[in-house]
Amino acid sequence: MSKQFDVIVIGGGPGGYIAAIRAAQLGFNVACIDEWKNAKGGPALGGTCTNVGCIPSKALLQSSEHFEHAGHGFADHGIKVSGLSLDIDKMLARKDQVVKQNNDGITYLFKKNKITSFHGRGSFVKAAEGGYEIKVAGAAEETIVGKHIIVATGSNARALPGAAFDEENILSNDGALRIGAVPKKLALIGSGVIGLEMGSVWRRLGSEVTVLEALPTFLGAVDEQIAKEAKKAFDKQGLKIELGVKVGEIKSGKKGVSIAWTNAKGEAQVLDVDKLIVSIGRVPNTIGLAADAVGLALDERGAITVDGDCKTNLPNVWAIGDVVRGPMLAHKAEEEGVAVAERIAGQHGHVNFNTIPWVIYTHPEIAWVGQTEQQLKAEGRAYKAGTFPFLANGRARALGDTTGMVKFLADATTDEILGVHMVGPQVSELISEAVVAMEFKASAEDIARICHAHPSLSEATKEAALAVDKRTLNF
Ligand code: FAD
Ligand code: NAI
Repeated sequence: MSKQFDVIVIGGGPGGYIAAIRAAQLGFNVACIDEWKNAKGGPALGGTCTNVGCIPSKALLQSSEHFEHAGHGFADHGIKVSGLSLDIDKMLARKDQVVKQNNDGITYLFKKNKITSFHGRGSFVKAAEGGYEIKVAGAAEETIVGKHIIVATGSNARALPGAAFDEENILSNDGALRIGAVPKKLALIGSGVIGLEMGSVWRRLGSEVTVLEALPTFLGAVDEQIAKEAKKAFDKQGLKIELGVKVGEIKSGKKGVSIAWTNAKGEAQVLDVDKLIVSIGRVPNTIGLAADAVGLALDERGAITVDGDCKTNLPNVWAIGDVVRGPMLAHKAEEEGVAVAERIAGQHGHVNFNTIPWVIYTHPEIAWVGQTEQQLKAEGRAYKAGTFPFLANGRARALGDTTGMVKFLADATTDEILGVHMVGPQVSELISEAVVAMEFKASAEDIARICHAHPSLSEATKEAALAVDKRTLNF
């Protein structure tokens, strides 16, 4: 007889593994199936995020930032560095070690929560007596049965037509995180989140980086004022970003990659580089799930169709994370995982899409939550704006990191915070205060009246809230 579970989760990324843990906490008998393989072919729980996404990219961002500081940044502090050199193998090995610590951490959490872990591919099969079962194809093949199924199969990098990923010359996020020698010339197609983060890593390590972006505006989803400030900083760093381009034929050979492209003025160009990273977005992953075998509905983008509660069209089948609509972010996947586990338990799990923060981990960092100024204008909503530059923040000066600002947008009448936008030092951490404030429907005045430690970067948040009422104290 097939093994029976209360909840079967397909996919062990941040959506799936968190859903499994929460379901186990709620007293369910849980299985999680994940097919990711480590270098030795063994399991590597954590999905894209842990293996080839959030975690390794941040490890390399940190290492490359240290390298850049040692090269230029320390001199201002009176610290002289000589004989600086780069051991890329060691840097990559450290990144792999950080990944492994996270893989092992999730394995430990599964044991702690008594979750049965299957290493292999999970797919739907029609059961003889009607309904469906889940086939697990790993080292062995077996069929298991669950009262509830949570699909959390994530996403894959989108390839450019005619330029398939070979992970040698034409790289997805996977290859981009394990280039064995710093390329002299590197191109990225797409100046979105991956383009900027990975472009920053390799520029800091010495590559001449060109980013080709189709849209005429830089970071269109970001508040315009913040995006402009960030672009200025990237230009200064020498990250070459070409906007409004049309990418043509891409040829890959022994000498590298040749990219034909047309610039914003319509002039034909050719860019020859050692490596190309294609970062033009990601596609929901339902490969091998056999969704059609059981009639699991997909939308026109190939994402699993779900309602506001993450219910699919099949009874007791739920889907979360990158494989469904909404932002492709690890914390969004996690929130959905928790909410679905709680809904299965008859509780009222909830995800507030208005307060999901975004962070781009470049230098300066970019972070935001809520609506942008251009969105409020388009909506015709009356708002007040307040900004405060890090240049006027004592801690930022002490850090020697004064680029950027904090910006508050609040309702013109009620003063409710509608959006907070930041570019500058450590704003990946500062944004949390804005998220909490918005979750509690705070006004800008609420933040302005809270005591913030001195000297801290968070004072810029308070001052930007004060700026909404035109009463900054330090600017
Ligand atoms: P995934 O993490 O993709 O996990 C899905 C898992 O399911 C995988 O392990 C896969 O092998 C497995 N699977 C798929 N099909 C099957 C099957 N049929 N059977 C068994 N297993 C299966 N987000 C952030 O919030 N912050 C960041 O800093 C960040 N950085 C990123 C950097 C990069 C380079 C990339 C590519 C992404 C980054 N993301 C970041 C996005 C983040 O990785 C995703 O939003 C997140 O991983 C989605 O989680 P998920 O659980 O939905 O899917
Ligand atoms: P993205 O959606 O962030 O950016 C893709 C960019 O490519 C866009 O600017 C788009 O206009 C451009 N583009 C699309 N087609 C093009 C073409 N043919 N030619 C030139 N430009 C083209 O996607 P990206 O960077 O691949 O990242 C995927 C997702 O992964 C992100 O949207 C995000 O959800 C997640 N991610 C999150 C991170 C974070 O939270 N810090 C870090 C990295 C990824």
